[in-house]
Amino acid sequence: MTPAYATAIVTWRYPEPYHWYDMVSADPAELVDPASGYFALLDGDSLIGFRSFGVDGQVPGGPYDDSALDTGGGLRPDLTGRGLGREAIRTGLAFGRERFAPAAFRVTIATFNLRARRVVESLGFRNVGRFDSSTDGRSYEVLVRSETLR
Ligand SMILES: CC(C)(COP(=O)(O)OP(=O)(O)OC[C@H]1O[C@@H](n2cnc3c(N)ncnc32)[C@H](O)[C@@H]1OP(=O)(O)O)[C@@H](O)C(=O)NCCC(=O)NCCS
Repeated sequence: MTPAYATAIVTWRYPEPYHWYDMVSADPAELVDPASGYFALLDGDSLIGFRSFGVDGQVPGGPYDDSALDTGGGLRPDLTGRGLGREAIRTGLAFGRERFAPAAFRVTIATFNLRARRVVESLGFRNVGRFDSSTDGRSYEVLVRSETLR
């Protein structure tokens, strides 16, 4: 992640009902901080999305433990809905596997977001639970993909 990429990402705005993913109050400096676990996703020189590894992928109130590495992210808004997400997330998982070698990956997805669920389920993630966020009460699903059984 670079300051320029981070500055661009916080300006991204998703069409409804995905506007919940807008990083409206995010500080670009936080995205650049290596401790935050954000990585830019590039196609050549072009910024096409980002992936995150670590607590950024968690939603407050979820049933988290240390058995899996949380991962999250997003495609650039104009690239969504075109069948590109699977390759984007697959690329992120391959990177995360090489860099962090987790026993499993975990994703937390808003229950309404069937589009994201379809993509991660096609990549081998399986639902392990549902909870309501302790901050805004919204419903979320937790899905896990074991890396040791692959
Ligand atoms: C989530 C994300 C990776 C999905 O990738 P995408 O390329 O936009 O998704 P696709 O266009 O491939 O759609 C995936 C599937 O969902 C289906 N779909 C799309 N909208 C849908 C809806 N409203 N309800 C049910 N299914 C839907 C598509 O038909 C497609 O089905 P298929 O698997 O049979 O081909 C991408 O949209 C993204 O990064 N969005 C940012 C905002 C966001 O939702 N973040 C979630 C982070 S967990």
